[in-house]
Amino acid sequence: MAEQAISLSDWLEGRVAVGLDPALAGLLADIARPCTKIAAEVNRAGLADILGLSGTTNVHGEEVKKLDLYSDQLIIDALRQAGSVCGMASEEDEEIIAPSAAGEQSDYVALFDPLDGSSNIDVNISIGTIFSVFRRLGPRGSAAVLEDFLQPGSAQAAAGYFAYGSSTMLVLSTGDGVDGFTLDPRSGEYLLSHPGIITPARGSIYSCNEGNAWTWDKATRDYVDSLKDPAGGEGRPCSGRYVGSLVADFHRNLLKGGIFLYPAGSKKPGDKPAGKLRLMYEANPMALLAEQAGGSASDGSTRILDLVPSSVHQRTALILGSSDNMAEYRASQK
Ligand code: AHG
Ligand code: MN
Ligand code: MN
Repeated sequence: MAEQAISLSDWLEGRVAVGLDPALAGLLADIARPCTKIAAEVNRAGLADILGLSGTTNVHGEEVKKLDLYSDQLIIDALRQAGSVCGMASEEDEEIIAPSAAGEQSDYVALFDPLDGSSNIDVNISIGTIFSVFRRLGPRGSAAVLEDFLQPGSAQAAAGYFAYGSSTMLVLSTGDGVDGFTLDPRSGEYLLSHPGIITPARGSIYSCNEGNAWTWDKATRDYVDSLKDPAGGEGRPCSGRYVGSLVADFHRNLLKGGIFLYPAGSKKPGDKPAGKLRLMYEANPMALLAEQAGGSASDGSTRILDLVPSSVHQRTALILGSSDNMAEYRASQK
C-alpha cells in the first residue's frame, strides 16, 4: 500500500511546527485556492474559443475576460477576502493594490504574475502563475506602501509558481529548500510529489529565444554558440528546449538541470541593452527557487536576489540554472 501522500495543508502544518509563521502558511494556502480555479479555467480555455465565448458575453450574461485578467481578479479577490495581505502588486495592474480592511493587520505583501506565458494560452502549451511574498517593513494596521514592495529578492519570505501543464503543480520555497506538490484533481488537494528538489549541478539543456541573438552582446552570443558546438566544452552539444513560458522552461530545467537565458538586448545601435522579464514577479521568485535548489541566478553581472528595485514593474535580464552551467556562463562573460 503506497504510504499516504502528504497534503499541502499537512506540509504547511509541519513547517509551522518548526517555526514557519502561521500567517505565512495561511497566505500560501490562500494563494493555492484561486490558482486551482485558474487551472480549471486553463483546461477549458480552448473550449471557450470553440464555443465562441471568448470576447463576448457567456451563457450567464457575464463578460468573458482574457485569462490574464480573469486570473488577476481571482487572486486579488481571494487574498482580499482572506485578509492575508496588507497589499498586492500584479503584472496586470499599474498601481499597487489595496488590501481589505482585515488585510491591514497582515504582515505580508504579495506580488504576482497571474498568468505567465499568455502567448501560449491558445496553443495549448503549459502556462503558469508566479508569486513572491515579502514581510512588510512598516508597522501593522494600515495598507502597505510602495517601500514594502521595493525590497531585494533576498528578503522574500516565500516564492513559488503554479504550473498548468499535463498536471497542475505548485513549486514553492519559504527559504528552507524547494518542495513540489501535484494537484489531485479528484480531491482538489495538492499532494507532496517532489520533496526537497535539488537541481542537478550540470544539465545539458539550454533555453533561450535565439531569435533575439542579434540583440545580445558578443560574449553572450559566443557562449550560446559554444553550447551547440560538440567541441565547445563539457556536456556539449547541449539540447535546445524553449517553449516561451518562463514557468514551463524553468520547471523543466529545475528538474533536469541546465541553463535558462533571457539576456539583455539592444535593438538599435547605441541603445542601452534592456531585459524583458520583470524583476519583482518573474526573476526574483525564480531566482529564490533556483538558489534554494542549489543553482544560481544573475542578470548577467549581478546576483538577481541582490538587485535593489526602484519600481514594481522594472525589467531585468535573467540567466539562471544549474551551478556548473552558471559558473561556466559567468567565466564566459569575463
Ligand atoms: P507573460 O505572459 O507573463 O507576459 O510572460 C511571458 C514571458 C515569459 O513567460 C517567457 O519566458 C518570455 O515572456 C518569453 O518571451 P519571448 O516570447 O520574447 O521569448
Ligand atoms: Mn510572465
Ligand atoms: Mn503574465
